[in-house]
Amino acid sequence: MSPPLTLHVPVADRGYDIHIGHGLLADASTLASQLPVGKLAIVTNTRVGLLYTSALQTAIRSAREGASAIEIVLPDGEQHKTLATVERIFDVLVANRFARDDTLLALGGGVVGDICGFAAACYQRGISFMQIPTTLLAQVDSSVGGKTGVNHPGGKNLIGAFHQPIRVIADTATLSSLPRRELQAGIAEVIKYGMICDADFFAWLEAHISAVMALEPDAVAYAVHRCCAIKAEIVSRDEREQGDRALLNLGHTFGHAIETVTGYRSWLHGEAVGVGLAMAATVSTEAGWMMASERDRVLKLLEKAGLRTRVQNEVTPAAAREAMALDKKVKSGRQRLILMRGIGKSFITADFPVSALDTALEAHLS
Ligand code: NAD
Ligand code: GLY
Repeated sequence: MSPPLTLHVPVADRGYDIHIGHGLLADASTLASQLPVGKLAIVTNTRVGLLYTSALQTAIRSAREGASAIEIVLPDGEQHKTLATVERIFDVLVANRFARDDTLLALGGGVVGDICGFAAACYQRGISFMQIPTTLLAQVDSSVGGKTGVNHPGGKNLIGAFHQPIRVIADTATLSSLPRRELQAGIAEVIKYGMICDADFFAWLEAHISAVMALEPDAVAYAVHRCCAIKAEIVSRDEREQGDRALLNLGHTFGHAIETVTGYRSWLHGEAVGVGLAMAATVSTEAGWMMASERDRVLKLLEKAGLRTRVQNEVTPAAAREAMALDKKVKSGRQRLILMRGIGKSFITADFPVSALDTALEAHLS
């Protein structure tokens, strides 16, 4: 096994490390180096729990002799990302007398990470939690940066808190059990980082996307590390999303519109973001800010990763426009979009030509 890649997230009051490597769950040394002293609770779901809880328990036992964690196993699925699920976690923590110096371990994808992080943010006004992400999306995005929360019937992620983990351990070997579609959805977020601010990483992806998709350990570790480094840098500049952190939402205004109009049923989040990235590239090109050849590179890379760049017969431009009006970035009634002056040069603006947006909606939706 290659040594894990480590990087630091320097957030204001308390920074933390991210460890990335193939087989980290089976290797207690990474976990041992900073396993907190108090009680531990693994928060996971029915699917991931079956696959990886016992490896984590073994690592905990060998890291701290005789120790074990209690297990809180949630039902699988976004529909369970609710306050009711968080209450279930509180009930178990109270019953087991968890206190301020105890720690939750979030073992799973973004859903488990967001729920567990939010429970940790609230329980006794805040206890520690560690992220052990097991989907590509969670390893490159949701486990880093401290956004935690749950959905409300009125909208996604409406109830939440900023609460940074004490550590992130991303074992890329866990991605081997991930369904192909989930892997592709995560790849959209990986491509996003190159488009936001790293043209060299984008070019690296053009050359290595097949190796990443084939889960070649060094390629995956490099990609996850690069994404986390970019996210760590942006989050440390703007933890509470007053400015630049919004760049991480490249493609998401369009992606969320696709998810909303299709009722969160047929499209995975990352799949919808993939179309959204293509649409952001088209708006940027139509506005005259990005060369058509660069837009074509974006479309080609998305397609090479098996992602769609168009939605057919499911979302009309009018329906997308209506959904986009609800975007959190709308300010004083004005639509703001993350666009590009080229690959790796993203910016947020309300001053884009309406005709460029119209063209993109027509080109990518029907
Ligand atoms: P997910 O957590 O639902 O995981 C997808 C599916 O894969 C689930 O069925 C899960 O049980 C399964 N799974 C997870 N790991 C597995 C593994 N190694 N092997 C086999 N199956 C596995 O989905 P996700 O895409 O990881 O996360 C989506 C969530 O993340 C959304 O709720 C979204 O709002 C949130 N999110 C949060 C942030 C943030 O900054 N907090 C950022 C992006 C997304
Ligand atoms: N996923 C966007 C963010 O963390 O800000």
